[in-house]
Amino acid sequence: MKNFINIAVVGLGQVGIYLLNELNTKKKDIEIKTGKKINIVAISAKSKNKKRQFKINKKIFYKNPLEIFKHKKVDILFESIGLSDGISKKIVETALKKKVHVITPNKALISKHGNYLTKLAEKNKVNLEFEASVAGGIPILRSIKEGLITNKISKVYGILNGTSNYILSEMENSSEGFSEVLKKAQKLGYAEPGNPKLDLNGFDAFAKVRILSALAFNNKISKHKCLMEGIEKIELKDIKIADQLNLRIKLLGISELKNNQLFEAVHPCLVSKKSYIGNVNGVMNAVILEGKPVGQSILQGEGAGPGPTSSSLLSDLLSILRGNIKKPFGVSFSKLKSLKHYNVNNYVNSLYIRFEVKDKPGVLSQITNRLAKYKISVKRLIQTPDKKNNKATIVIITHKTSEINCNTCISKIKDNQNILKSPIVIRLLD
Ligand SMILES: NC(=O)c1ccc[n+]([C@@H]2O[C@H](COP(=O)([O-])OP(=O)(O)OC[C@H]3O[C@@H](n4cnc5c(N)ncnc54)[C@H](OP(=O)(O)O)[C@@H]3O)[C@@H](O)[C@H]2O)c1
Repeated sequence: MKNFINIAVVGLGQVGIYLLNELNTKKKDIEIKTGKKINIVAISAKSKNKKRQFKINKKIFYKNPLEIFKHKKVDILFESIGLSDGISKKIVETALKKKVHVITPNKALISKHGNYLTKLAEKNKVNLEFEASVAGGIPILRSIKEGLITNKISKVYGILNGTSNYILSEMENSSEGFSEVLKKAQKLGYAEPGNPKLDLNGFDAFAKVRILSALAFNNKISKHKCLMEGIEKIELKDIKIADQLNLRIKLLGISELKNNQLFEAVHPCLVSKKSYIGNVNGVMNAVILEGKPVGQSILQGEGAGPGPTSSSLLSDLLSILRGNIKKPFGVSFSKLKSLKHYNVNNYVNSLYIRFEVKDKPGVLSQITNRLAKYKISVKRLIQTPDKKNNKATIVIITHKTSEINCNTCISKIKDNQNILKSPIVIRLLD
């Protein structure tokens, strides 16, 4: 690689502008560490005159990022627009075809088009790096690709969405409901002001699970429909009951090999307050990896925000500058597997099921009889009457049961006139 490297930064939002400032202020440090001089030759965003956190050089500004290639010789391009398709895909595709290395924090793009873009990068012998797309500043992808390279990984799981983790932690700390805490998260910049849906419904964490699975198991990014549940249905009541049981609710992303089949899921989980994962609170992320011979490895850190994200983007940059031209998913695309998917109906867990019922005789036995019919046995039962409103809350902790039994049972039980609303079901982590 030559000694003078031309860089383009496309997208100057929260991440892009912070990254640009880091690149400008760390040029010397980068030169000392890699022997390469970087030069920012082009920047791009939607609006040239928008007020930004750091000053930009308008002489190198492009409204249309595709125009950059007509005027500048670029060696490395950062994409931080953030779309799964459209201009994000187009600019990355064009750069790779022009033999330009690409670095991106865009999990939506990689989880959707990672297979295609990987083939393109390999064909053109350039890097496609995306460390910042999973768990912000935590170097989990590089750890799997390098530090843990010869391990046989069996499971990677953890807290992959800081917004959801903040909301669940803050509901417990402040005793405020979901919507109040969501507003707080939006005010603090932890949740998107316009549309926080993708953080809350599990989609954001799921995109990260897809990327982790591909790396951990040398598999192509899977396209199967998988188990994805967010935190939108969790109420303060569940947090309080969990607290009484010495448990906490966490949104977990899970990627696991079960009988050599790929299991991917995102769902809320009840975990022990004494467990490691039960004490990862606020906007923190944590990834737990189980492999042989390494055993269990845990990485924890800030999962979002321009600072941690830029830390990962720069680590990708320095890796390329040091001549580390690698396959995006560690091994050649042609060697990646297409693992069969584990049938989610067979996923087995103990469950927390909360019923809101009319407070009258016989209701409890109607519920337990129905559970028994689907071979769901009760481990613990807590009944709290609300005499004033003639209602009661019944919480049942079950022994282990399969997803199919639980779903069929709940779908039948919902029709019972004495049950006032859809039961809340949360799985318990072993
Ligand atoms: N924010 C985080 O903490 C975080 C953490 C990890 C990963 N990420 C990922 O980082 C990426 C960027 O996130 P962000 O929060 O920085 O997003 P953002 O604040 O919404 O910024 C998006 C940027 O893209 C620009 N843009 C939009 N359409 C464009 C177009 N057609 N041509 C050129 N530029 C265009 C916007 O221009 P204007 O500024 O002119 O509107 C803006 O600068 C996403 O993939 C996200 O998932 C973000």
